[in-house]
Amino acid sequence: MSFPERFVRRFDDEIRFFKGWLDGPKAVGAIMPTSSVTARSMASLINPASGLPVLELGPGTGVITRAILARGIAPSDLVSIEYSVDFHTRLQIDFPGVRFIRGDAFGLDQTLGDLNTSLFDCVVSGIPLLNFPMSSRVALIEDLLDRLPPGRPVVQFSYGALSPVLSRGTSFQVVHHDFVLRNVPPARLWIYRRGAPVS
Ligand SMILES: C[S@@+](CC[C@H](N)C(=O)[O-])C[C@H]1O[C@@H](n2cnc3c(N)ncnc32)[C@H](O)[C@@H]1O
Repeated sequence: MSFPERFVRRFDDEIRFFKGWLDGPKAVGAIMPTSSVTARSMASLINPASGLPVLELGPGTGVITRAILARGIAPSDLVSIEYSVDFHTRLQIDFPGVRFIRGDAFGLDQTLGDLNTSLFDCVVSGIPLLNFPMSSRVALIEDLLDRLPPGRPVVQFSYGALSPVLSRGTSFQVVHHDFVLRNVPPARLWIYRRGAPVS
């Protein structure tokens, strides 16, 4: 893609993101789309050779979706859950073949429908966890890890200095994965997993 095309796409993403923020600032939970540097760092944790699908939460404008596909995941092997109707409609146009589900990541049994018993390689999450109560955050991570092989990660984006989910009294460990200055504002990436890391 040429520089002018990249610039137009980025501007388009920012306009859509701003509109999404106006419609639901708490659900969007950010002031700018995720940077491609952050998206690539998250996608680097995917194992494309696992043969398992990837689960994405809160794709928004699709910056992380794009990085997941660039990592070598076929569109049909990506399941992505987005709450906003507007983002969901646009994502289906921009990324044909990806299984976008319009629904709530905090109610996975219902939201995943016929994919409810699927095993995923890992989870890549951009949902604004800090805007939800700690009990819901912990329950979400436990639910997500039940859908992964032992040792595989849930990677979560956050703006806070500390992990948005504490591991005290839970079945998982928390590991700091990355601090990305080239993100507005700078972002931290956290990994949640059960047992020793498996690539
Ligand atoms: C910080 S934004 C993600 C930004 C995205 N990476 C981008 O660059 O456009 C958070 C996204 O999570 C979605 N979201 C918030 N709560 C959600 C929920 N309970 N289930 C699914 N998606 C949710 C929002 O609609 C928004 O698209």
